[in-house]
Amino acid sequence: MKTGFIGYGNIGEMIIKNILSLNILNEEEIIVSNRTITKLDLLKEKYPKITTTSDNKYLTRNSDKIFIFVKTPQFKEVMEEVNPYLSKNFHIIHVCAGLSFEDIATIYDGPVSQVIPSIASTTNEKLIDSNFRKKGVSLIVHNKKVNNHEKEFVEELFNEFSYIEIIEKGNVDNLELATALTSCGPAFIALLVKKLSKIASLKSKFDVGETEDMVVKTLFGTSLLLSNLDEDKIDTNADETIEKVATKKGITQKGLDYLDPEIERIANELFDKII
Ligand SMILES: NC(=O)c1ccc[n+]([C@@H]2O[C@H](COP(=O)([O-])OP(=O)(O)OC[C@H]3O[C@@H](n4cnc5c(N)ncnc54)[C@H](OP(=O)(O)O)[C@@H]3O)[C@@H](O)[C@H]2O)c1
Repeated sequence: MKTGFIGYGNIGEMIIKNILSLNILNEEEIIVSNRTITKLDLLKEKYPKITTTSDNKYLTRNSDKIFIFVKTPQFKEVMEEVNPYLSKNFHIIHVCAGLSFEDIATIYDGPVSQVIPSIASTTNEKLIDSNFRKKGVSLIVHNKKVNNHEKEFVEELFNEFSYIEIIEKGNVDNLELATALTSCGPAFIALLVKKLSKIASLKSKFDVGETEDMVVKTLFGTSLLLSNLDEDKIDTNADETIEKVATKKGITQKGLDYLDPEIERIANELFDKII
């Protein structure tokens, strides 16, 4: 039996390519389905031994566990389609934000894990032996029917290319807040980069490509300063970084004095709006 993956969009493509490029699973062990089958042409070209289909029932009959990477409103339809082919202890792993285990139990009452991945975990074969193989955070939560062996499989798989954060039963209420940080985070940070670059370009003779290049390279270096990659853990030391840059009465300090309350207000309002 193979490992099945349903949905080859933004997240499905990232995770499947990560798995294949880091040799986490072999091509022969993988079956992928997407509604629009032509989306899988390039993947099949690069990995000819992979099985591709647009038939979720065929995929389920040939898999012993399935990952579901469709959009949240499409999840129910997919589950109803594959449900007749699921044995009692079939492990479903899905990435759909905003779906509770109680919602799913009305359709399928077996072992289910939810993973909230992040596009920040995109990796490739060139990074296999580097410190940058692993990036971003995957949030993982299991329902009580998932056994230890199944937990390990999911956690070890995502641990290969991301930092995993296991959300324990008592902490599920905080999943949305963590999702805002880790999964929405790349979009929020990209917006900040875009706005900084655009305004800096309007206020100077640099074009927006040049300002964006400066901002992105600075962001990359700052991320490394804030992370302790050698220790294989994220160890933020934001205060230390701020202290190293700002001098009393200098322009950094002026900027910090202005930004500090503004960012606090924006962060408060942002979380109030989306959670
Ligand atoms: N994007 C992110 O950064 C992110 C982060 C964390 C979690 N998520 C979660 O990931 C899920 C997917 O998001 P996404 O951005 O990857 O969406 P997406 O790009 O729209 O991908 C969804 C894919 O599912 C396919 N699909 C839809 N119905 C199907 C069916 N019945 N059978 C087989 N394939 C089907 C679509 O096929 P077509 O090619 O025919 O459209 C599409 O390729 C969402 O639930 C979201 O909450 C996303």
